[in-house]
Amino acid sequence: MAGGGDPGNQYFCTASRGLEQLLREELSLKLSASEVEPFSGKVFFTADADLKKLKSLKCAERLFLLVKKLPPIQVATHKGKGVHMLQKYVIGESSEWLNIVAKWKSLQDLNKEEERISDNTRTGIKRPAQQESGETRKRSKLELGESPVTDFNESPTGPHNTHSLIEECYQSKSPTQMPSSPDELLNSKGQGAASSMHFRVSCRCSGKIAKMITSQELGRAIGVALSRQMGWKAELRNPVLEVYVHISDVHYVVGIPIVRLPLARRDYIKSAGLRSTVAWAMAYLADIKAGSLVLDPMCGLGTILLEAAKEWPTAYYHGVDNTASQLQMASANVCFAKLTNSIDLMRASVTELPLLTESMNVVICDIPFGKKFKISQDMKTIMPYILKEMVRVLSIGGTLVLLLSQELSLLMQQWQKLKSHPNDKGNIAVWQNPDTTPKDTDPVEHIDVQPISVEKEQSDVKTQIFASLVPTGIFQVSLGVTEAAIHRYKKILIS
Ligand SMILES: C[S@@+](CC[C@H](N)C(=O)[O-])C[C@H]1O[C@@H](n2cnc3c(N)ncnc32)[C@H](O)[C@@H]1O
Repeated sequence: MAGGGDPGNQYFCTASRGLEQLLREELSLKLSASEVEPFSGKVFFTADADLKKLKSLKCAERLFLLVKKLPPIQVATHKGKGVHMLQKYVIGESSEWLNIVAKWKSLQDLNKEEERISDNTRTGIKRPAQQESGETRKRSKLELGESPVTDFNESPTGPHNTHSLIEECYQSKSPTQMPSSPDELLNSKGQGAASSMHFRVSCRCSGKIAKMITSQELGRAIGVALSRQMGWKAELRNPVLEVYVHISDVHYVVGIPIVRLPLARRDYIKSAGLRSTVAWAMAYLADIKAGSLVLDPMCGLGTILLEAAKEWPTAYYHGVDNTASQLQMASANVCFAKLTNSIDLMRASVTELPLLTESMNVVICDIPFGKKFKISQDMKTIMPYILKEMVRVLSIGGTLVLLLSQELSLLMQQWQKLKSHPNDKGNIAVWQNPDTTPKDTDPVEHIDVQPISVEKEQSDVKTQIFASLVPTGIFQVSLGVTEAAIHRYKKILIS
């Protein structure tokens, strides 16, 4: 474990599958982190950073102080013996826990003033449960574990995973006896004052171990043993300290979350749309520069624009959507995030954007898929027309970043392969003779594409599009229940 005067503390973040590499880059850029080790849904690192910097990470779901990362052991096949072995191995020495709790406390001290200030200003989010709107309730459910957003560790990979976080209470304890702050729990030397520590264990077993023991059983066993060893008291509802344990075939990881809420829950977003970490990743990949004009032509609640505008505040953002209700919520989000100076919203169709040709430096779009945003017409038919319009408004040298379903991702790759040579003069007319007339802004409720000779026209459109788009990366990402791909392209001038 890192100590004072060294590179800092050891941490780990959880990340959506596929975002580990981007998180790695973010850790290096923002925290100058060392010993960065991405591993299957987690990224381990060492950093000497203050809490504000740690909390500025946008690609991470949750952030933990690393208590220990242990190699797996051969566990006795007898269940009772096996549990005992695991319990002993995972908990280890009391001194380790006292050290880590002291580190955790010093981070909490740094956080104290900041939390006090933000609690006072966050009244819009922290409403009592009975006053919450359906939307907010839905979101809190997601954040509290019904979605992989708060998944403690890598997504389940096999039939023997236990999917949920299990929080076990080992003894009953009246909430009225809860300590009011971490200070109460620590003695004068800043060490864990054992007897008054209120804690809970969240345990997840996956892989072989999960065949033998459930997460609940192991969580309870570790909780009981930790309580005995450290003199800590179990508190399920409102613990001061949370201990997370993940036992898998590759390693046993124990951590303490540094902030209660997942980092992925942004305090500046009122109504959540696309997973915030994925939205941020798309913006990161778009190479947004000072003064860039950035468009999301199917912006929904505006998550991508919000994430981008918070991180790259010197660019200008435009959101387009054809659905009034989506735009209303996007507008409320923009106001809530205090980004009205940098984000404009308008109602239009992605196939008829009221924007000048080559007027945008960046186009970023989460192309609808899945049940919620199913477009009635076949995406295969519509996509070329969506792409054509996006590419029309994109400047030469500009970046296009798309979030696509797996199916559409494959289709786009096939179309890319079939593209004709860029010097084929027959394919460049559209891009060389751009129509610079702004398009009608009349509201459009759905995509209405009626090509005359569908096959021929589609094929021409695809050829035109992919002659001017150079692919610069495909990044597979997990959206929890679905898998998706981020495609990135650069628009080139066709000579
Ligand atoms: C997947 S959602 C975007 C979600 C968004 N990224 C967010 O975080 O909220 C797709 C959006 O495309 C919009 N949409 C569907 N057809 C459209 C069209 N023809 N023109 C513009 N927007 C359209 C839908 O109204 C929906 O808001």
